Order: sequence, then structure tokens, then C-alpha cells
Amino acid sequence: MSNSSAKAQGGAQADVWSAGDVSLEAALAAQGDAVTQVLDSLLAPVDGPRGRVIEAMRYGALGGGKRLRPFLVCESARLFDVPRASALRVAAAIEMVHCYSLIHDDLPAMDDSALRRGRPTAHVAFDEATAILAGDGLLTEAFTVLADALTHDKAEVRIALVAALAAAAGAAGMVGGQMIDMSPERTGLDLAGISHLQSLKTGALIRFSCEAGAILAEAGHAEREALVRYAEDLGLAFQIADDLLDAQSTPEALGKPTGQDASLGKATFVGQLGIEKAREKAESLVRSACARLDLFGEKADLLRQTAAFVVSRRS
Ligand code: IPE
Ligand code: IPE
Ligand code: MG
Ligand code: MG
Ligand code: MG
Repeated sequence: MSNSSAKAQGGAQADVWSAGDVSLEAALAAQGDAVTQVLDSLLAPVDGPRGRVIEAMRYGALGGGKRLRPFLVCESARLFDVPRASALRVAAAIEMVHCYSLIHDDLPAMDDSALRRGRPTAHVAFDEATAILAGDGLLTEAFTVLADALTHDKAEVRIALVAALAAAAGAAGMVGGQMIDMSPERTGLDLAGISHLQSLKTGALIRFSCEAGAILAEAGHAEREALVRYAEDLGLAFQIADDLLDAQSTPEALGKPTGQDASLGKATFVGQLGIEKAREKAESLVRSACARLDLFGEKADLLRQTAAFVVSRRS
């Protein structure tokens, strides 16, 4: 695609990747800032009564977060030297879907949480109807971003991105996982059932994020499969870490409520296996995730470090 046209909507970022020798912390911060700038320009405030929903969308999308999924998009794209501005638009799209999922997850009808990213949740800061609409708006806007020729000049690639994100977000992916998570049957799940639930609820968006670089680059089957396998291990490790933090951290450190999984009767590895075995499982998934990236050599080092980060993180 034309680098200059992608840059036009990518914000002020240079359309080149910095050398891959920066620390993970620095790279996460830099890509996080870059995707926040893109989100800021894509979700420009508007005047009039419609402005309130945009304000709530901005509240949900711009207020912090680790920006892990955008980072995975950027790092998977960097493996193939995809133009950075193009990757950042896909990164913004997946973060919009993620932020929508958080706004809805926190609603009274779901987890009924009042704290997210260290601030009042969207339905507390605004109201329930506005929070629902803000989630709907973010989900829908993500597809507008992917469908735009600024994301990639080939229509086939844009359609592949739209199809992959729709599959990851919908009833065969995140929404399906959230349904199982809310269902009465969740209490009877065995370890395989919990893995399945988590692979949908959390895994599907992480998988899209890792696959996105390969889709943008029209990469071959082996590379794409390697990223998918990495993402499957990473996604499960990530959700086990989320469950460990729910059991062991504090709302001050985490920026969201803790102890919810036990009180809401959620099906988690921590509930089934206990803290120690759940942590061992997460760590063994990290080792497996790293091994999936062998064919990319040193260029995938930040993705390997990301796998270790998701289980050692404190928030
Ligand atoms: C939280 O995701 C929701 C889960 C899928 C477990 P993150 O831990 O990535 O949340 P933010 O984006 O950093 O706030
Ligand atoms: C929700 O999982 C994941 C999605 C939003 C799809 P959780 O309910 O465990 O997420 P947190 O802990 O509230 O972030
Ligand atoms: Mg939930
Ligand atoms: Mg929740
Ligand atoms: Mg949780």
C-alpha cells in the first residue's frame, strides 16, 4: 500500500518501525502512545446531542489500559515489515472492540463493576443506556476503520481483516465466551470446558491481534499458523493471569475490582486448580508460546518477551 496515504490517517507517527532492540517496556509504551493518538483522531468529538455517545466512546477507549492487543498487532505486522501506519489502524480497530467488550462486561447485567482502569466504569460515569450505545458505537466503528482503503490498498485484504475480526468478536468468539461465562452451566465445567470458555472469551481477540500482521502481509500458511498457535497459548496464559490477579491483587493495584470471580461463581483455572497449579499452567503456556515463534528468529523476541510479561504483570 502507499505509505503516505496510510500515514495520513495514522496520526503523526513515522511510518517506519524502530529497530527491534528496544526493551519491551519502552516498546509497549511507544506503541501504546501511538495507538492512543490514532484512536483520538478516529474518535473525534462532535457537537450536539450525538456528541454524548462519542464522549462515552472516548472515555472507554482513551482512558488507559495496557494496549496489549494493539501491541500484538504491531509486533506481528513488524515481522513482515508491514507499513506501521497500516498496522496502527488495525491496532486501533481491535482496541475499539476490546474497549467495547470491557464497557459491556462491566454493566450491571453482566459483572456489575464500578471500577475500570482506575476510574469509574462507563455506565457509572455516564449512564447505562449511554454505556451500551458507546459499546455498540466502538464495535461498529472498528469495522469502518478496517474497511477504509487507508488500512490497506487491497480490498481482499480489508475483507479478510473484517471477516477475521467479525468471527473473533461474535458468537463464535468473544460474545460466545461471555455467554458461557454468564450461563448456569459454567459451574459444572471441567478443565477442558474452562479452556474452551477462555479461548473464546479472551483468546479470540488475542488470536485476531496476532494473526492481523500475517493477514496484512498476505503471509504464507506456515507463518500464519505459527502466529495462531502462539496466540492460543498466549491467550490462555493471559486469562489465567487475569484470574490470578482477581484472586490475589487489590483494586488499587489492578484498577478494577478483585475477588469477583469467586463471588460471581466464575469458572476459572484458579478455582479448579488453586493458585500454585494455575500459575504453573500459565508459565508452561508461556514456554510453549515462545517455541511457536522459532521460524521468525530474533525478529520475534519482543513477542517472546510479551508472553513472559502477560503472566508476570501486576495489572
Ligand atoms: C481485561 O483485559 C479483560 C480480559 C480479557 C481479561 P486487559 O487486562 O488487557 O485490560 P486493559 O486493556 O489493560 O485495561
Ligand atoms: C471479560 O473477562 C473479558 C471480556 C471483556 C471479553 P473478565 O470479566 O474476567 O474481565 P475483567 O476481569 O472484568 O477485566
Ligand atoms: Mg466478565
Ligand atoms: Mg469482568
Ligand atoms: Mg477477570
